[in-house]
Amino acid sequence: MREINQIGVLTGGGDCPGLNSVIRAVAKTAIIEYGLDVIGFVDGFKGLVENNYKQLDLRNVSGISHLGGTILGTTNRDNPFNYLTESQGKIQSTDQSDRAINNMKNLGLDGLIVIGGDGSLNISNQFSHKGVRIVGVPKTIDNDLAATDVTFGFNTAVNTASDALDKLHTTAESHHRVMVLEVMGRYAGWIALHAGLSGSADVILIPEIPYNIEAIIAKITQRYRQGKKFSIIVVAEGAAPADGEMVVQNLVPTSHDPIRLGGIGQKVAEDIAKFLIDIEIRVTVLGHLQRGGSPIPYDRILGTRYGVAAVEALMEGKYATMVSLRGNDIITVPLEEAIKELRRVNPEGNEVRVARSIGISFGDK
Ligand code: F6P
Repeated sequence: MREINQIGVLTGGGDCPGLNSVIRAVAKTAIIEYGLDVIGFVDGFKGLVENNYKQLDLRNVSGISHLGGTILGTTNRDNPFNYLTESQGKIQSTDQSDRAINNMKNLGLDGLIVIGGDGSLNISNQFSHKGVRIVGVPKTIDNDLAATDVTFGFNTAVNTASDALDKLHTTAESHHRVMVLEVMGRYAGWIALHAGLSGSADVILIPEIPYNIEAIIAKITQRYRQGKKFSIIVVAEGAAPADGEMVVQNLVPTSHDPIRLGGIGQKVAEDIAKFLIDIEIRVTVLGHLQRGGSPIPYDRILGTRYGVAAVEALMEGKYATMVSLRGNDIITVPLEEAIKELRRVNPEGNEVRVARSIGISFGDK
């Protein structure tokens, strides 16, 4: 008898372009290559706890690879090990992991594929310590997982942000304005860095390099003197001044990572305006546009490769692992390693040096 006959799949945490490509690849590989039954849990780990699922077959995963979002739904609130419920206005936390495991047993599931970022992979690791056969797939537009070269979804987000910069450029130039674009990236500035490089930003502000407003003003003034009467600034939501903090927009108490960032673009604009009173400044916050919409071909292909590899890993008994891109190979890495650290921009690394070489300022000197 084979060890694996039926598997489950879920999408956890914030959504990201390419999720459907992974779901489709998981279901198709499991059914076509291995003759398995496949169940998709609805709304991530919440579906696992509440036993809310749907059978995936070749029909309902067909024609979805190019679609944004996730056909399974997701949530970034529900952790089975610290499950938050509200009763009479009070939030309670209980461990519902055994309930989730019993659901999997009753359904006859032999393995689970979790498509998620650091939060979902942490939960997966805890489940694997309790004996669940799990393989993770690295997802996040922030590209901040250290154990893989690239997470799927990142390049689509960069595409969206770069396109926004192209559009801001023409209007900035026409009106001789400073345009500030705020992009996502909580603890890692990958989207800002790559979009800024591709979209010809003049200033890139990222969490890894604290900025000084004087340095930004010096850059804008220098450009002005050279006859460039407009400037483009791209700022990651997690960027902060050397003498200040990240700008928190609100707190979501029912979330396990309750901090929601937002507002640094406006702050940068206001701080510049105090010094450059004659120059008009406008702010655009790109927000969830970066998470929505159709994945670019790169992410459809990477998502498909990850999905196929995740099923293969389960079939080969490589449990408690995450599939990962290294160079052009898809390998597996232990979940323990995958959750150990975030992948952040190296301020001395090649991309930052390249940007500095072509005159882009990081607001630090
Ligand atoms: O981690 C991905 C991410 O898109 C971050 O860049 C952003 O800070 C966060 O999710 C936003 O989460 P929410 O969808 O809950 O606003």
